Amino acid sequence: MSRIQNICVLGGTGFVGHAVVRQLVTTGRKITVLSRRPQRAKDLLPNPGVRLVKADIHKPEVLERHFEGMDAVINLVGILNEFRYQSFRDTHVKLPRNVMRICWKTGVQRLLHMSALGADAGTGKSEYLRTKGEAEQLLYIDSGDNLHITRFRPSVIFGPNDQFFNRFARLLRYTPWLFPLACSNALLAPVYVEDVARAFATALEEPDTYNQRYDLCGPSRYSLRELVEYTAKLIGLRRRVIPLPERVAMLQAFFLEMVPGKPFSLDNFYSLKTASHCEDNGLQRLGIESTPLEAIVPQYMLGKTQRVRHNEFRRHAGRDEDHSQSSPLT
Ligand SMILES: NC(=O)c1ccc[n+]([C@@H]2O[C@H](COP(=O)([O-])OP(=O)(O)OC[C@H]3O[C@@H](n4cnc5c(N)ncnc54)[C@H](OP(=O)(O)O)[C@@H]3O)[C@@H](O)[C@H]2O)c1
Repeated sequence: MSRIQNICVLGGTGFVGHAVVRQLVTTGRKITVLSRRPQRAKDLLPNPGVRLVKADIHKPEVLERHFEGMDAVINLVGILNEFRYQSFRDTHVKLPRNVMRICWKTGVQRLLHMSALGADAGTGKSEYLRTKGEAEQLLYIDSGDNLHITRFRPSVIFGPNDQFFNRFARLLRYTPWLFPLACSNALLAPVYVEDVARAFATALEEPDTYNQRYDLCGPSRYSLRELVEYTAKLIGLRRRVIPLPERVAMLQAFFLEMVPGKPFSLDNFYSLKTASHCEDNGLQRLGIESTPLEAIVPQYMLGKTQRVRHNEFRRHAGRDEDHSQSSPLT
């Protein structure tokens, strides 16, 4: 029987959160997921042992109430862009600091924290990377004797509901013939979401991972351009990727930042200036074999090809009779 039974997950409703929660419940643990909008993650509920609770995690007293009696806390909260109601500093620095302090106060002894590859408080090129780096630093320096912290730093993460391949698939579809691409030479080593979740599950009860940090990468590195061209090929679109010169890319980011939902921002632009691949892949150190994207991405991109989408449309429109049966030519 595992020692860590009760786990509180922050950010458990997100893309990575779903994978982490699903892996943890297979081992019979009880998971409490705190969320601002739990109704958006009801699909987690059929997993035995999962409890979804509406909570404002930015209030220390709320965290305190929910951390009582927990054996471990996992913090996956992160944002790619700032909005009026959320800042990088509050989300990436203030919240992790509160989480750590309330772990001390409530006697939680294990904390797993999600950062990002390239995060660095001093040299991070974007506010996203600097604030993620600041949190890593404070969790390392101030952790204390009774709280064991492990930090994870993945490259871009892929999986069926990712915001990377899916987003490019969408953008490619709306952009005829030529696809202008900022930071086309940016280097990335995409890592599979299930491998990331396995890293969390493996580290949870492993004392060798205390106070360590793990860079998490897939087995190969690619330029952003290669990944976009691969996406276009998978969804059956002919698009010519046009790398944007630096200044034009910045201008694009400047304008897209003003579009609702911020599809791309200056901060994203600066994040892409940092190569996101591993010198020392933490998955190997954890005994996890990293999954190549070519083994997974085609499976979920297949549903996005024009032919499949057309067939889906016909089926919904009630026009999917098997015409081969009635054709006089067969
Ligand atoms: N996806 C990637 O490629 C990638 C790569 C490197 C690192 N990461 C890091 O991995 C973590 C998870 O990423 P993800 O892709 O799963 O993100 P996601 O799908 O956007 O999920 C983010 C989660 O964080 C919570 N959250 C976001 N903003 C919040 C705020 N202001 N206050 C409270 N809760 C907030 C959300 O919870 P509710 O909305 O339910 O409250 C949601 O569950 C993040 O820390 C991210 O920086 C991701």
